Amino acid sequence: MTSPSAPPDGADGSSDEPLRVFVLSGSSREASVNSRLARLTARLVARRGVETEFATVRDTVLPVYDGDDEAAHGPPEPAAVLRDRIRQADAMVIASPEYNASVPGVVKNAVDWVSRFRPQPFKDKQTLLVSASPSLVGGNRGLWALRVPLEHLGARVYPDMFSLAEAHQAFAESGDLHDQGLQERLTSTVDCFLELVEADVRYPALRHRWYEFPGDRSDAPVTLRAEG
Ligand code: FNR
Repeated sequence: MTSPSAPPDGADGSSDEPLRVFVLSGSSREASVNSRLARLTARLVARRGVETEFATVRDTVLPVYDGDDEAAHGPPEPAAVLRDRIRQADAMVIASPEYNASVPGVVKNAVDWVSRFRPQPFKDKQTLLVSASPSLVGGNRGLWALRVPLEHLGARVYPDMFSLAEAHQAFAESGDLHDQGLQERLTSTVDCFLELVEADVRYPALRHRWYEFPGDRSDAPVTLRAEG
């Protein structure tokens, strides 16, 4: 039985519920290197006892955003499916290709549709970005571009990102990376990200420390910038 002074269930970080992470590949190609990287990342997440859900943008095919369509019919069903996957997860991983040094239209279009729901599902969502490309920079510029709308929407985009160069020849048959150093780097990025997610989900009291600027009063509107 709980003593009167004990914290409510889970408030002391003791929840037995596994964390849930939604992993999305921003490519619909069957042979996509980003889907391969997304699957590898999902496997690294799952090995920590975290529940994972995997999807690609092909699973939720969306029309190009149109304000008149939205006004007449609301967001399409696939956008609601994507919204639910994001909302039900404690965190998400997006593996996105880089197109012309930026975000592929299909990924931005999905972000735009999902952003129309209220409550707005990206807000406060811990998010890890990874990319893969045959190029030598691994699609990293696309991730910087993707970071902008996500941060605008209040997602907590993890500072470290992982970009896999020469991705067409980077994967072993097992799905791991040939390069042991890169495999370790991705693994440690995932592990550190999950530790942050766990702290954020299990120990919400810490939020105030993270979200406030030093010296600001906790009830000052400026400190609620990320909550707005
Ligand atoms: C590309 N690609 C590409 N790659 C890159 O590193 N920087 C870039 O700016 C672009 N631009 C670009 C534009 C368009 C329209 C296409 C179709 C492709 C190449 C791209 O990285 C490559 O096709 C990847 O294999 C795509 O990712 P998936 O589908 O394999 O995950």
